[in-house]
Amino acid sequence: MKKLIDPHGRHIHKLRLGLLDACNFRCVYCMPQNPKFMEKSKLLKREEIFRLSKALVKFGIDEIRLTGGEPTLRSDFLNIVRDLSELSLSKFGFTTNGLNIDKLLPELKSTKIKNINFSLDSLNKVGFHKMTGSSQLEKVLEAIFMAKELGFNVKLNAVLMKGINDREVNDFLDFSASYDIEVRFLELMRIGEARESFDKYFISAGEIIKRLEAKAVLAPVKRPVDSTSFNYELKNGAQVGFIASESRPFCGGCSRLRLSPEGSLRPCLMKSEGYSLVGKTEDEILELLYKTMALKPTDRIYEVSESMNIIGG
Ligand code: 5AD
Ligand code: SF4
Repeated sequence: MKKLIDPHGRHIHKLRLGLLDACNFRCVYCMPQNPKFMEKSKLLKREEIFRLSKALVKFGIDEIRLTGGEPTLRSDFLNIVRDLSELSLSKFGFTTNGLNIDKLLPELKSTKIKNINFSLDSLNKVGFHKMTGSSQLEKVLEAIFMAKELGFNVKLNAVLMKGINDREVNDFLDFSASYDIEVRFLELMRIGEARESFDKYFISAGEIIKRLEAKAVLAPVKRPVDSTSFNYELKNGAQVGFIASESRPFCGGCSRLRLSPEGSLRPCLMKSEGYSLVGKTEDEILELLYKTMALKPTDRIYEVSESMNIIGG
């Protein structure tokens, strides 16, 4: 199979597939408190998701991550996963807030899903409620433990906000060491809702690392060239990654495309333009794939007004 190479020489092989924009959380950095979600009729149908994914895999995509909104809120989530399990993928995972997924997890064991990234911004009830608007921390933690026990490759994603959860870094590291789960700290990004309060809440990965270095030895861990994170291991076994999209952008090595919930193929998280693949033939999809890759920026775009839940995190 021919590799998908963009005009800047980047090998494109990962797809973020946004299944819907709706979510049962209201993370402060992600969406408005009273969001208007897309009409269901606009969302890609299960059959079209499979057809488009199959074509994209044929043309060179070999990793798929399902996102949203909260992807598990789709009533056909399991069926979509089963469909996509038929494709030849080297990596297949999804990102979730972990609420109400306990029933799904045993079923997912019989699919090709191996990787589950949980968005978990706080390990205490007060912080968790502040960040997500939800009081269901316990339930989310139970889902995380269950996923780990079932043998999924589990990672935690925490968006750090100054004065809200940045003092929890050490708790997250203890958690990582105790349960053998990688924790990744995400820098807040200037996306949608987060733009207004960005200056107040942004804290860089560098600042967090400085704090950590005062207390512990951080041993760097090798990562693939197109990784979005840089990682360290601590003496106590904690595994920590930093996704420093603002202070250390990784656009130069980016290998991703996104398919939005309504079927638009997009070049970048920070770009609202893209091409709709809905109803297109395979030949047309290939042409649009190259057109989309040509739109991929090489430098970090300053900000984007659309909310993260619409673009797909
Ligand atoms: N900045 C950084 N990360 C964000 N996410 C959502 N909005 C933002 C933002 N403004 C993260 C979520 C989740 C992933 C899908 O994207 O926390 O981990
Ligand atoms: Fe939902 Fe994820 Fe957005 Fe939080 S960050 S509101 S869990 S889509």
